[in-house]
Amino acid sequence: MMKGVLFDLDGVITDTAKFHFAAWSRLAKEELDVELPSSFETELKGVSRIDSMNRILKFANKTNDFSDDEVGIMAAKKNGVYLKEIEKLTSKDILPGIENLLDSLAANNVLLSVASASKNAPFILKKLGLFDRFDAIANPENVSNGKPAPDIFIEAAKQINVDPRECVGLEDAVAGVEAINASGAVSIGIGDAQELHEADTVVPVTSDLSFMLLDQTFGEYYK
Ligand code: BG6
Ligand code: MG
Repeated sequence: MMKGVLFDLDGVITDTAKFHFAAWSRLAKEELDVELPSSFETELKGVSRIDSMNRILKFANKTNDFSDDEVGIMAAKKNGVYLKEIEKLTSKDILPGIENLLDSLAANNVLLSVASASKNAPFILKKLGLFDRFDAIANPENVSNGKPAPDIFIEAAKQINVDPRECVGLEDAVAGVEAINASGAVSIGIGDAQELHEADTVVPVTSDLSFMLLDQTFGEYYK
């Protein structure tokens, strides 16, 4: 049986991608005078704040126009806009099936750890009323490389004292699935099967997740 489950947050526990994208779009317009294409919403999933900022600068052809300090100030400005939106989150914003999943995993003594690239993860989990339901939350500030590197999943497994190879990882982002696979955990993608084809299994929506599905997938793909 799996010993731990490593959860991505944005897009798995709650749907914040729309707020991230709206905040980045506003920043791009105000500071860089460009419109972000809607395809950027998917492209930025799982990507850290600073890496997202750099991708947007590249899109705007302005990679060399700003100092590191100025880039940091713009990223902080985006976060200010984003924070105003996530301040409004409540338990109603938990994605379908997630609370049941947490209950059944805990009832089976599976340890639960959060492997999110977001520095806002503890705040969001408190807003959703889920903060105490996890055994650990990996701090993205303590890892050197963002997704698709495996670091945050390795750190999340370490925080619950379990080898990543004894865990299932849950992700909605292409970069995140790549990160789970590189960590040695079994990967379950949530979303489009073609987009997430590198995952060991893909389900279309979070309400398809269950203790049984996770444990069966773990048994099948145990590496
Ligand atoms: C990920 C999101 O979970 O966290 C990304 O999918 C986001 O879109 C990243 O950029 C970092 O989030 P934050 O909250 O630290 O800016
Ligand atoms: Mg995600």
